[in-house]
Amino acid sequence: MPRHNCPCHNTVPCYKRRVQWKVARANAKAFPWTLAPCPWTLLKCNAMNDEIYIRKTISLAARGKGRTSPNPMVGAIVVKGGKIIAAGYHRKAGTPHAEALALNRAGKEAKGATLYINLEPCCHTGKRTPPCTGAIVRAGIKKVVVSMIDPNPQVAGKGLKELEKAGLRTLSGVMEEEAKKLNESFIKYITKKRPFVILKIAQSLDGRIATASGESKWITGGKAREHVHKLRNELDAILVGSGTVIKDDPSLDCRTRGGRNPYRIIVDSNLNIPLEAKVLRHDDGKTIIATIDLNSKFKIQNSKLLKAQQKKSDLLADMGVRILTVKEKDGKVDLKSLMKELGRLEITSVMIEGGSTINASALASGIVDKVLIFVAPKIIGGTDSIPSIGGKSPALLKNAFTLKDLRMKKLGGDFLFEGYL
Ligand SMILES: NC(=O)c1ccc[n+]([C@@H]2O[C@H](COP(=O)([O-])OP(=O)(O)OC[C@H]3O[C@@H](n4cnc5c(N)ncnc54)[C@H](OP(=O)(O)O)[C@@H]3O)[C@@H](O)[C@H]2O)c1
Repeated sequence: MPRHNCPCHNTVPCYKRRVQWKVARANAKAFPWTLAPCPWTLLKCNAMNDEIYIRKTISLAARGKGRTSPNPMVGAIVVKGGKIIAAGYHRKAGTPHAEALALNRAGKEAKGATLYINLEPCCHTGKRTPPCTGAIVRAGIKKVVVSMIDPNPQVAGKGLKELEKAGLRTLSGVMEEEAKKLNESFIKYITKKRPFVILKIAQSLDGRIATASGESKWITGGKAREHVHKLRNELDAILVGSGTVIKDDPSLDCRTRGGRNPYRIIVDSNLNIPLEAKVLRHDDGKTIIATIDLNSKFKIQNSKLLKAQQKKSDLLADMGVRILTVKEKDGKVDLKSLMKELGRLEITSVMIEGGSTINASALASGIVDKVLIFVAPKIIGGTDSIPSIGGKSPALLKNAFTLKDLRMKKLGGDFLFEGYL
C-alpha cells in the first residue's frame, strides 16, 4: 500500500503527520455536528480537509433521514480561509435545498469560498425548487467539492459541467462509498423508479421466526426492537403479508420518540384480513392493501365472490385504506408489479417485516436489495416451528442466496447481520 498518495504536494508528506491525523479524526468523530473550525484546517493538506468537510456534509445530510423522500439527503458546507462559514441540510421534500440554505447563510462571504456537498448540485428546475448551480455561480463560489455524482438522469454530471463552464473548479468522488450508502434508497428509486427493498427478519439461532403455535413475540430483545422502530422512522414504508396481520394483529407503527409512521402495506390477494385489525385503525391515510383482481385469478366470472370482494374493498376504502389492485402471479399479488406501483406513488424504500411466506416470495421474485437478520441467542427447534424463509429450497447449494458486504453488530443480547443481494 503506498504510504503517501496525498495529492497536496506539501513538503511534509501526510504520513509524517500521523499524530495530527489521529487527533483530528477523534475530534471529527466526537463532534460530528459542530460547525466550529476544525483542527484539520490547521493542516495544509487539501485532500485531508476535503475528506473532513465531506464527512461533515454526510453527517448533516443524515439529519434529514426519513424526511426528504422522494428527494435525497443532502448536506452542504461553505468553507473560506480554512473556516466553515455556513452550513445547511435538506430538511424535507419541498423545502430549500442544502446548497441554497448554506449559501443564503454565508451571504456575501460566499465569494471566493469552497462549497462542499455530499451530492452533485442540481441543474434542473425541480417540482418546487430552482436549480442550485445558478445560485452557486451567482454567489461567487470558487470551488465545488462533491462526494458523488447525482444518479438522477436529469443531472448525472451535468451539474458539475455547468459549474466548470462558468469557470469554477470542481472535484468529485471524495468519500463516495459513504455518500452512496447514505442515499442507497434514493439511488435505486431514481434510477429504477422502484423502491429500495430491505428484508428484515427476527429469528432464533436455528433460523425460526415463530413456534409451531405461531407465537413470535418476542424472539429478539428490546435493543433490537428499538433498532427496528428507528428504521421505521427512517424508511418510507413497511410491508407484511396477510398471514402476519391475521396471526399477530400488529399495529405496524413507529414507537421512536419524535418519530413518524411509515406507510403500512399489507399484501392480501383475497382481502382476508379482518376489518377489526389494529393496522386498520390508523387515520393518517398511510395504510395500503395490495390485492389482485379476483376475476383474473379464477379466470371465470364468479359473481358471488367478486361482489363480496367489492363490498369489502368499499368498506376498507371508507375506513381510509387505499386499495391497490396489481397484477397476479400464481394467484397471489405479483410483488414485482407491486414495487412498480409503489415507485409510482413515490415510495422510495420498503422494509418487509412479514412471515415466512412473503419472505420467500420476496427473495424468489428478486425484489430484495438488502437483508437485515436479527438473531436471538435462542434455539426453538422442531420441524413444526416456522422457518424465517418458507417456500422451497434450491436443489443445489450453489443456487442459495449469498450476501455481499456482510456486517455484523451486537444489539443487547442479539446480533444483527446486514448484507446486500
Ligand atoms: N419473527 C419475525 O420476524 C416475524 C415477522 C412477521 C411474522 N412472523 C410470524 O410469521 C407467522 C405468519 O407467517 P405467514 O407466512 O402466514 O405470513 P406472511 O408471510 O406475512 O403472509 C402470507 C400471506 O400473504 C399473502 N400473499 C399475497 N401475495 C403474496 C405473495 N406474492 N407471496 C406470498 N404471500 C402473499 C398470502 O395470502 P393470500 O394468498 O390470501 O393473499 C399469504 O398466505 C406468524 O406466526 C408470525 O408471528 C414472524
